[in-house]
Amino acid sequence: MIKLPKIIGHRGACGYAPENTIESIRTAAELGAKWVELDVKLTKDLVPVIFHDDTLERTTNGSGNMADITYEDLRQLETGSWYADSFIGINVPTLEEVCEVLIEMNLGLNLEIKPCPGREIETAEVALDHLSRIWDDHDKLLISSFSHVSLEAAAEIANDWKRGLLLYGEGPDEWQPNWKELCDYLDCATVHLNHEMATREIIEEISDYDKPSLVYTVNDPQMARVLQSWGVDTLFTDIPDVIEENLLTVH
Ligand code: G3P
Ligand code: MG
Repeated sequence: MIKLPKIIGHRGACGYAPENTIESIRTAAELGAKWVELDVKLTKDLVPVIFHDDTLERTTNGSGNMADITYEDLRQLETGSWYADSFIGINVPTLEEVCEVLIEMNLGLNLEIKPCPGREIETAEVALDHLSRIWDDHDKLLISSFSHVSLEAAAEIANDWKRGLLLYGEGPDEWQPNWKELCDYLDCATVHLNHEMATREIIEEISDYDKPSLVYTVNDPQMARVLQSWGVDTLFTDIPDVIEENLLTVH
């Protein structure tokens, strides 16, 4: 079974620095995180970049769709000023750039494949192709996606790399009754769900199926302790230092 940390920095440490940037990764490491979660998608010309939204407005000074901008044009934009003046001028990083930093800092990576609509297969293909040339330590790599098509493509390209089934629901009522079939079909090693959907029963169901559970995005220390007491293996958080300080010592 994959050995996971108790805490993964969400989009780096996006409570303290602009999400999905090298600054955010370095901050996560400085705050004690051993792994980070990052989102990958493709520019128009198929460069894998670390970015969350399908559109550029929220986190850059540009506009339009990520799928419609070339890497060269994306590089003219910046992704720091929306967050704070102290970050003005920083770029959207490529997958390769962040991997260099992660390897240098000995950090683990949960790479979330976040395809723009219609690019589910090629995003997995291109990201894994790049990763295969850079990343050697597969004990420190977990590929996840909400897209079953992307997970299927990832399984075809690199079946021996660990994959996580990423689930979302507004509440426990939206928990997928067929999650075990999905997990088996996509050959996933881990199950990731949002905290709004998590209950003790669901967490125990996952653990009884011998899968680690990873819950996102937990920024409330009290909630972190409750989830931990239910047996959650890993928490994604924007503030890794605060959550780390508040973890239960045994569970
Ligand atoms: O991978 C966990 C979490 O990052 C999924 O949601 O929207 O933050 O990418 P989102
Ligand atoms: Mg994500």
